[in-house]
Amino acid sequence: PNEPPIIPYWIPLIGSAITMGIDPVKFYRENQKKHGNYFTYILLGRRMVTCLGSEGNNFVFNAKLADASAEDAYRSLTVPVFGEGVVYDVENSVLMEQKKFVKSGLSIKNLRAYVPMIQMETDNYLTRWNKKSGIEDVHNAMAELIIMTASRCLLGEEVRSKLDETFAQIFHDLDGGFKPINFLFDNLPIPSNKLRDEAHIKMRKFFMSIMQARREAGITDRTDVMEYLTTQCHYKNGRKLTDVESSHIMIAILMAGQHTSSTTTAWALLFLSEKPELFEKLRQEQIKVLGSLDVPLNYDALKQLTLHENVVREALRLRPPIIQIMRRVKKDLPIPQTNYVIPKDSFIQCVPTISARSEENFENAEEFNPNRWEVFDQQNKERDDDLIDYGFGQLHMASAKSPYLPFGAGRHRCIGEQFAYVQIKTIIATLVRKFDLELLNGKLPMCDFTTMIVQPKDSSLRYKRTNY
Ligand code: HEM
Repeated sequence: PNEPPIIPYWIPLIGSAITMGIDPVKFYRENQKKHGNYFTYILLGRRMVTCLGSEGNNFVFNAKLADASAEDAYRSLTVPVFGEGVVYDVENSVLMEQKKFVKSGLSIKNLRAYVPMIQMETDNYLTRWNKKSGIEDVHNAMAELIIMTASRCLLGEEVRSKLDETFAQIFHDLDGGFKPINFLFDNLPIPSNKLRDEAHIKMRKFFMSIMQARREAGITDRTDVMEYLTTQCHYKNGRKLTDVESSHIMIAILMAGQHTSSTTTAWALLFLSEKPELFEKLRQEQIKVLGSLDVPLNYDALKQLTLHENVVREALRLRPPIIQIMRRVKKDLPIPQTNYVIPKDSFIQCVPTISARSEENFENAEEFNPNRWEVFDQQNKERDDDLIDYGFGQLHMASAKSPYLPFGAGRHRCIGEQFAYVQIKTIIATLVRKFDLELLNGKLPMCDFTTMIVQPKDSSLRYKRTNY
């Protein structure tokens, strides 16, 4: 059998790691032109079979459990950070149950409660921008703010209140374990992994002590996900989640949500600064929906802020935080409608950002144009994709036909999308009430692809206080 073409490389061990690592988007686009939607590159001795276009996305996202495994691709990176017994350390059917727990914890009732909390945190945070005009690194700022909002909403008040003391350092050390190198190698004896392991234990103990204290204090009407996990959840076989499992799930959602949401918010603000007329349009939208910029935001109003929504969607189209989705192939696997067969133990990956930034799917694809989504929604209203239930409380398109999949598709699809939108829209809506932003030299920053999550290289912006 025929395997997909292998990209030539010069240094045997390293393979294409360097050209791919410097600018993966360019690397994938160039090779797509040369070889079509399927090709293989060698990454430190591993076969990475790249599957592009809507068909490639669909092939990877909807691969059968018997054919390809996310666990085998992500285990070495995630298990030491999240801990045992959750996510990629368990059978897929258990992950599906755990995702359902979190999804149910992020109920509309709870999301409703989060909006005022996020607005308050954002207002408080922005008191630091206290001049009429000044320069701030917007990515740093969003990372600091989002750990406050996310920990308050998901983990609860106790964690939020420790953020300035112990928790921030523990988070930092644990996060240091989330490095590409740990995707490639199991448990390297490097200092950052030692810190990671110590931080994991501290964080688990911290969460477990809160759970214990809550139990002693009795039931309340808390809206955080920790409360939901520890009081409401049991597996189908009747077993309740243990406190260790709940703690590990809390760590997993904290990690899954932090950099994804903070870089998306930062990129959205950077793109807005490229089109400064949008700040006024956003304020006008809020005035239309709420009556004035003094009215507190709420969940229902947020739903009606279409331009705000489309700004986030468009930022996710151009700068999705996760660009490669990986699986490991469990047996020789033919690619449908081709003559190719992927050898057992190869990795397969799709790169949805390539289809989301292609002219074939989006006119003037590289331009930031939130309004394009109004047209897109109109055109796609009538689509009747068959829906499938993977068991985590959300129906999904059975095939990943859409060229735009920043939250993935299929059984591993994100369960944090609604929360991410609530959080990011509330932050942007609160910020534009007070500030206009400008790029410093008129140009968007470049992407840093060396981190797990694609970040802006230099995200300093000028803020100017508005007259509202
Ligand atoms: C899965 C993106 C925020 C929790 C995923 C996947 C993507 C993604 C692409 C699929 C991974 C794969 O198929 O291998 C994003 C983006 C976010 C975001 C762009 C924000 C802008 C969040 C938040 C949470 C979260 C806030 C938690 C509250 C998860 C979980 C999974 C997931 C639990 C499932 C992993 C699996 O089943 O293998 N996310 N995410 N995400 N995300 Fe998110």
